[in-house]
Amino acid sequence: MSNIEIRNHPKYYDIYISGPQDNLKLYTKNLVPGRSIYGEKLQSFRGVEYREWDPYRSKLAALLLKNPTSNILAKDLNCLYLGASSGTTISHLSDIVKEGVIFGVEFATRSIRQLVQNTSERANIIPILGDAIFPASYAKAIYTEIDLVYQDVAQPNQAEIAVDNCNYYLKTGGMLILAIKSQSIDSLAKIDKIYSQEKKILEKSGFEIIESMNIDKFAEKHIVLIAKKKST
Ligand SMILES: C[S@@+](CC[C@H](N)C(=O)[O-])C[C@H]1O[C@@H](n2cnc3c(N)ncnc32)[C@H](O)[C@@H]1O
Repeated sequence: MSNIEIRNHPKYYDIYISGPQDNLKLYTKNLVPGRSIYGEKLQSFRGVEYREWDPYRSKLAALLLKNPTSNILAKDLNCLYLGASSGTTISHLSDIVKEGVIFGVEFATRSIRQLVQNTSERANIIPILGDAIFPASYAKAIYTEIDLVYQDVAQPNQAEIAVDNCNYYLKTGGMLILAIKSQSIDSLAKIDKIYSQEKKILEKSGFEIIESMNIDKFAEKHIVLIAKKKST
């Protein structure tokens, strides 16, 4: 562990930074000190251990580095995370939502095994082996209303999957963060056309798109949408 200066992010709850504005490094406070999940660096500063958050490995970190206006994260959020994989991003979210719970849905058995191993000491993560295409199939595991749905599944029908899950679990006024990979939807169509088509699906389904951030710099051909479920 090396000693570098870590400071509060000026805008986002429980997010930490180091370095100059044009080359910021992001961190979260490690909920399980001494434990690294995906090889990320652990840094101690003034007696607190932080985990460096890699925007090339996590679209949520990439989104935060794009400086969205919305301040979406808070300590008491209950989250549904679709496409949890082996735990990279969900573990940082778990550092932040210390008083909430995150239900992490993943359909690949190898990934869910790794997720369970990687996050067993994190009481606020509940791994669920399930297919996000069928939200009702994991209803018994989700015991509370959801404030935030985060989705990163790289499927052809990304917007529909998000809408179905939000209709099932997200409270009115709740937020959706949706990572869209254009290549998974159509590798031949114009990227902008794909993005606007996905946005239309959300809007027609009762969502207000708050922000749309291009994160190409960190994840090729991706945007991340922040949307709000409107009252009907
Ligand atoms: C791009 S990776 C997610 C990376 C992860 N969000 C992170 O940042 O740590 C996409 C994940 O979604 C999972 N996935 C794809 N389709 C799914 C579905 N229908 N239901 C559940 N998981 C799915 C894949 O198995 C894969 O682990």
